[in-house]
Amino acid sequence: MNVIVIGATGTIGAAIAAALRPNHTVIPASRHSEHKVDILDSRSIAALLDANPHTDAVICAAGDAVFKPLADLTDADFTTALSNKLMGQVNVIRCALPRLRPNGAILITTGILGARPMPGGATFSLANGALEAFTRAAALEAPHLRINAISPPWIAETVAALHMPPQPGALPAAHVARTYVAALEGTATGQTIVPS
Ligand SMILES: NC(=O)c1ccc[n+]([C@@H]2O[C@H](COP(=O)([O-])OP(=O)(O)OC[C@H]3O[C@@H](n4cnc5c(N)ncnc54)[C@H](OP(=O)(O)O)[C@@H]3O)[C@@H](O)[C@H]2O)c1
Repeated sequence: MNVIVIGATGTIGAAIAAALRPNHTVIPASRHSEHKVDILDSRSIAALLDANPHTDAVICAAGDAVFKPLADLTDADFTTALSNKLMGQVNVIRCALPRLRPNGAILITTGILGARPMPGGATFSLANGALEAFTRAAALEAPHLRINAISPPWIAETVAALHMPPQPGALPAAHVARTYVAALEGTATGQTIVPS
């Protein structure tokens, strides 16, 4: 398949791109990649897809929110989180729907904070819950495609980079990437898939 990986320079996205390369053609994309896209701007997502008209699948491993205690979150923090992690990926789905080849696939990335919140992670939980509900709904109206959300646990490399205490269930990015490949090649749609 011809697969656009948005966030292909990131911790998870680079591992996805590496896992795909033996069997698929990867089009790596991000704000600073050769194939430029900013998920905050739906026109740039559409332009990326229009420039790659034979795309079968889009995987989004980008999308940020604001990690801060709930009492400290401002209106601007919520706007940032909702326009980035939530609407950025909703717009990836909206833009890809009419542009992918039939039998293609869209994978977005949510995360463990949707199902298992932690202090400071409220905007991630908010975005992840909404994305997982939207994925279920969008799949109903896209019988020609498969749309799924991948909900990774903490990534071991991220835990190390942030000098966090050990997080239960953390997995290396390369391990999590295998779940994306399996979801891309599988038959599920409308699901939230948790790497294990
Ligand atoms: N790491 C974890 O422990 C973990 C756990 C669960 C869920 N997640 C979720 O997984 C996703 C990826 O996380 P990560 O840790 O791999 O992130 P990361 O290492 O910070 O990488 C983010 C990637 O996304 C790109 N990017 C950032 N903003 C973008 C934008 N507006 N438009 C297009 N591309 C953009 C970055 O490249 P450019 O700077 O070139 O744009 C980079 O390639 C996020 O949604 C995160 O919430 C992460």
